Amino acid sequence: MNLLFPLTFFVALCPLVLWAMPLDLKQEPGVYRMKIQNTPSLRAKLIKEGKWKHFLEELHTNKASGSQPFIDYYDDFYLANVTTGTPPQQFTIAPDTGSSNYWIIDANKCKNQACQGYPGYASHNRFDSTKSTTFKNLGTPFSIQYGSGSCDGTLAVDVLSFAGLSIPTQTFGLASSIADVFGYQPIDGIMGLGWPALAIDNVVPPMQNLLSQLNKPLFTVWLDRHVQISQGGSGGVITYGDIDTTNCDATINYVPLSSKRYWQFSIASFSVGTYSNKRQAQVISDTGTSWIYGPTAAVDAIAQATNAIYDDDNGIYTVPCTATGLPDWVFNIGGINYNIPSSEYVLDLELGDGNCALTLGDGSDLAVDGFQWILGDTFIRTYCNIYDIAGGRIGFAKAHHTGV
Ligand SMILES: *[C@@H]1O[C@H](CO)[C@@H](O)[C@H](O)[C@H]1NC(C)=O
Repeated sequence: MNLLFPLTFFVALCPLVLWAMPLDLKQEPGVYRMKIQNTPSLRAKLIKEGKWKHFLEELHTNKASGSQPFIDYYDDFYLANVTTGTPPQQFTIAPDTGSSNYWIIDANKCKNQACQGYPGYASHNRFDSTKSTTFKNLGTPFSIQYGSGSCDGTLAVDVLSFAGLSIPTQTFGLASSIADVFGYQPIDGIMGLGWPALAIDNVVPPMQNLLSQLNKPLFTVWLDRHVQISQGGSGGVITYGDIDTTNCDATINYVPLSSKRYWQFSIASFSVGTYSNKRQAQVISDTGTSWIYGPTAAVDAIAQATNAIYDDDNGIYTVPCTATGLPDWVFNIGGINYNIPSSEYVLDLELGDGNCALTLGDGSDLAVDGFQWILGDTFIRTYCNIYDIAGGRIGFAKAHHTGV
């Protein structure tokens, strides 16, 4: 998640469901599948309640200066369940390829309303370390800065389990204070799937601790598409240790990473309608960012090519939900065109005025991080992303969707 940008959150809608080992997902040795679900859009909820503008202003006022742009936490995003401790305590986290630390909320130290969740928005599971026989407090302070505030606490060690996998000694952040924005989001923490170089305090990220248990040293993210995606629901699967051949096309094209911090690579060009920019640019694939953020010129070109209107109050581009013939957004990666059709990039947030959102935002302040675009969930929904750790590369395969 890139912090400067909107990411959203999720709410666990379903009643009790087996999460760790979904029965419909067959297990093979070294291959582990984690079900993910989509959260309803906080942005949509706040826009409808007329509170979004105020919310954005608050976020901007509270922005820590000189903070690492890291996670952008406010729109529809994808959630999964993990457990920590012995016996296991369950948490709903955002699996985030745009960061590299695992953290959850401390039940004994994080006590204000944001820690508990704001009523009507979220209620958080918090970790009670006194109830875990395998817990070890390292005492080292940790702090992750987000655009909207920070998440602070201490580092600790305990068991982390998900998808049938288990890491006996995972170092993680136990947050004693969290940014206010998390109080609105139905997540109890974040599980970073980025590279060690991005990890705060040089903590070894979960994926690196897991590699030896996996059949193949990679993971595949498949995000499903529903027409009413902003309402949440079943959201896809992360396959650890293999390529997801069930939900993704057999043809996969890989490109080498240009930096192993974020999942960063080059695009050769971007085009939409009659606009084309053939200058190479750096991009990251980020499951923790809902939308796509790009350079101002490209964002303007997209707005023009789609006849979108900028909704100043809410900071989003909209088009009539009935609009047809909208041009694809086309990223050329490694000589291959990846088209994102309007059925993927237009989202019905149920704004109530017949307008739909373009899942697009201005990313002009990303350059300080060494990339110009964030390809968030809009891109990852359209193409399964294969995060190949040992190969130092990323692959793309058309995602299968039944819902559109
Ligand atoms: C996570 O756990 C909750 C509560 O047990 C459950 O309702 C939800 O469906 C689970 N989510 C996923 C993605 O497995």
